[in-house]
Amino acid sequence: MDRSLRAGFDVQQVRQDFPILSTKVHGKPLVFLDSGASAQKPRAVLDAMLRMMETSYANVHRGAYHLSEASTAAYEAAREAVARFLNAGDVREVVFTTNSTAAINLVAHSFGRGVMKPGQAVIVSEMEHHANFVPWQMLAQAHGIEMRIVGITDAGELDMTDLEAKLADGKVGLVAITHMSNVLGTVTPAARIAALAHAHGAKVLFDGSQAAVHRRVDVQALDADFYVFTGHKLYGPTGIGVLWARLALLEEMPPFLGGGDMITEVTREGFVPAPVPAKFEAGTPPIVEAVGLHAAIDYVTSIGMEAIEAHERSLVDHAMTRLSAIEGLEVLGQAQDRGGVFSFGLENAHAHDLSTLLDRVGIAVRAGRHCAEPLHVRVGRDSTCRASFGMYTTHEEIDFLAEALTSARRFFA
Ligand code: ALA
Repeated sequence: MDRSLRAGFDVQQVRQDFPILSTKVHGKPLVFLDSGASAQKPRAVLDAMLRMMETSYANVHRGAYHLSEASTAAYEAAREAVARFLNAGDVREVVFTTNSTAAINLVAHSFGRGVMKPGQAVIVSEMEHHANFVPWQMLAQAHGIEMRIVGITDAGELDMTDLEAKLADGKVGLVAITHMSNVLGTVTPAARIAALAHAHGAKVLFDGSQAAVHRRVDVQALDADFYVFTGHKLYGPTGIGVLWARLALLEEMPPFLGGGDMITEVTREGFVPAPVPAKFEAGTPPIVEAVGLHAAIDYVTSIGMEAIEAHERSLVDHAMTRLSAIEGLEVLGQAQDRGGVFSFGLENAHAHDLSTLLDRVGIAVRAGRHCAEPLHVRVGRDSTCRASFGMYTTHEEIDFLAEALTSARRFFA
């Protein structure tokens, strides 16, 4: 059977839905292997956003006229779609932000400064990207919170023994861990992490920026307290992200940003915050982007997250076989459970030179530290190239990458 047709998933048909994939770069077919940074958009997303602006756009929650009501209904329908996508227990648990970074900063400010007490600790891991690292450093500096960093094993998995040790004194208020590393591809054992955190009285936040794109996420089954993801990596637009949190936590947390829509009353003396989720959505929200995210969620769920996952597992196995056979190429991370993200270094080649060479033949990869400097220090690499897959990535593209890397090796030798 054609590998692209596994699990009833036809990758060639999927590719037809993404107009940009037929683009040529330097006269060569585009081989887009940077979906971990931002994914391409299907026609359904582009059309939904354009249609909304052409037919039913107005500001939301502010007008008693037809267009504003239509726009509000579309915005709130997007919230319901996200709630179903994450299997949230209540639609009010879904807060729209501008991206994952904004969602984590919201938690760091509101839960970190408003609920946690000085002297408590936050746990992150060595493999976080900066969005789930720097906000906690800022919290530590501003609020007397200790930041503890759990190690990873040489295979690139979370060191669960270290996590348990760092939880042991009962001072930890929050464990904030990636659900899938943007550098190593490691998928972390989220349900086990949550159980361990809860057993020690800590809440748990999962950064699903990468994971939510590749796997079905069920926040109730994970027993998460906070879960964040971003629209643009999930084939949706930039400018919209999601914070999901337990209702009781959102109700306990003070507002983060102040302004319109997050209040029920404002006087010269003060204000009364709106109920959740409006309490956390100050100002005009990303309305058209919410409609685009809704279309993206409908698109991936119509294909099926299980089918997408099966296709990507097959890509991961194939990439592991092809890349590990290239002499002089070191792939970072050997986790048992991993997704379609491969960071690598090639002997004698700087990552930026290598990515420039790959670009010449139409291959787009990211080069640098991938917003994860502490992790690069841990693995002893100044920088790497990273190939990250999307649902539209093919086995042939991986073959092409492997061939280009083999040629590059000869070139740099
Ligand atoms: N965090 C994004 C990445 O991994 C931008 O590339």
